[in-house]
Amino acid sequence: MEWFKDAKLGIFIHWGIYSVNGVLESWSFYNGYLPHEEYIKQAEGFTAKKYDPSYWAALIKESGAKYSVITTKHHDGFALWKTNYGHFNAVQNSPAKKDLIAPFVNALREQDLKVGLYYSLADWSYEDYTDFTRKNNRYSISEDPGRWEQFEQYNLGQLRELKKNFDPDLWWFDGDWEHTAGEWKVDEIRSLLSEGNSGVIFNSRLQGSGDYETPEIGLPIHRPGDDYWELAMTMNDSWGYQSNDKNYKTPQQVIDIFVDCISKGGNLLLDIGPKADGTIPEEQETILKELGKWTSKHREAIYGVEKGIPYDYFYGPTALSKDSTTLFLYVRDIPKDGKIVLKGIENKINRIFVVGNGTILNWEVFCKVFWSDYPGITYIEIPENAIDPYYTVIAVQLEGGIKLHE
Ligand code: GLC
Repeated sequence: MEWFKDAKLGIFIHWGIYSVNGVLESWSFYNGYLPHEEYIKQAEGFTAKKYDPSYWAALIKESGAKYSVITTKHHDGFALWKTNYGHFNAVQNSPAKKDLIAPFVNALREQDLKVGLYYSLADWSYEDYTDFTRKNNRYSISEDPGRWEQFEQYNLGQLRELKKNFDPDLWWFDGDWEHTAGEWKVDEIRSLLSEGNSGVIFNSRLQGSGDYETPEIGLPIHRPGDDYWELAMTMNDSWGYQSNDKNYKTPQQVIDIFVDCISKGGNLLLDIGPKADGTIPEEQETILKELGKWTSKHREAIYGVEKGIPYDYFYGPTALSKDSTTLFLYVRDIPKDGKIVLKGIENKINRIFVVGNGTILNWEVFCKVFWSDYPGITYIEIPENAIDPYYTVIAVQLEGGIKLHE
């Protein structure tokens, strides 16, 4: 889990036929917002005409992400790679007429980014799958175990293919809630996909049998325990491209959430939803580039850091270097006297500087008296010329590993 824990930022990609009309991915027919045939017809408009996987990978790299996770198949069953299983895929059923996953995986590897594949276990369009829509189930496994077995052979076949063709670093499963671990053959899936790749990582949507938690949209309020976790989040309110959804977070708001994840010891998996022609919507591109400006300046306060200290000691997000001798303070808004306040740190402070800018800062300590071991209150002054447009990050170098006063 080492690379994953240190990576902090990943880019999620939801790309599929739902981007043609800009409707809710898969759920739109499942929930009955449009008939299944109409939904499927979108495949006719899925051209990928301007798809430039090298550009995607370069943009992801520029954002500061260390990995990317792309939908190989969502709940609608449309496969984006060249598959010999099933009937519904980009090569045979859309004007794209090619494997869209292979060149992207290569482009990621060329950029030295880790490869994650999203795969929906549930496949609502497949004729031998149990569930079709919210109101319409095809059959139940107990009624027709043979039919389920057929479906499982199809699903395992696709997974085997993905493994053989791409052998990703990370498997991001979804849609597991419709069946039990036994019905999905989770153990078999895990051992199949781990063959010859013992470091491979699985998210937790395999009926609990995964390596890390995947909260979605809801940023955890409290610092989760010591478990690995990753927040999957949209830039607007949609995973896939929906032209009508203009409810984008600003770059500042995305960075707010990212900093919160870092300070709580987790990763952010930030989603983009490319259009049917393969272009990335302008608003999404802007967010990735702005994020890139901030991440490239603050590398040392992002990658490989550990979760921060309780808010009792600093009114804001923080993180620690692995050896806990550097405390990073993420300052969004500068106080009116230009001074931030740190309390109860027992270590001697050796130096304080602005990350990515280098300015060495002055500090003063109050309420520290000779007759008590109370470490005092530290005021750190941030000069105006050191202020970052998003978050100014202050590195506090301590003598030894951090000791918090109780
Ligand atoms: C949900 C949804 C899905 C989306 C995913 C991303 O489980 O079913 O549409 O792809 O979350 O985390």
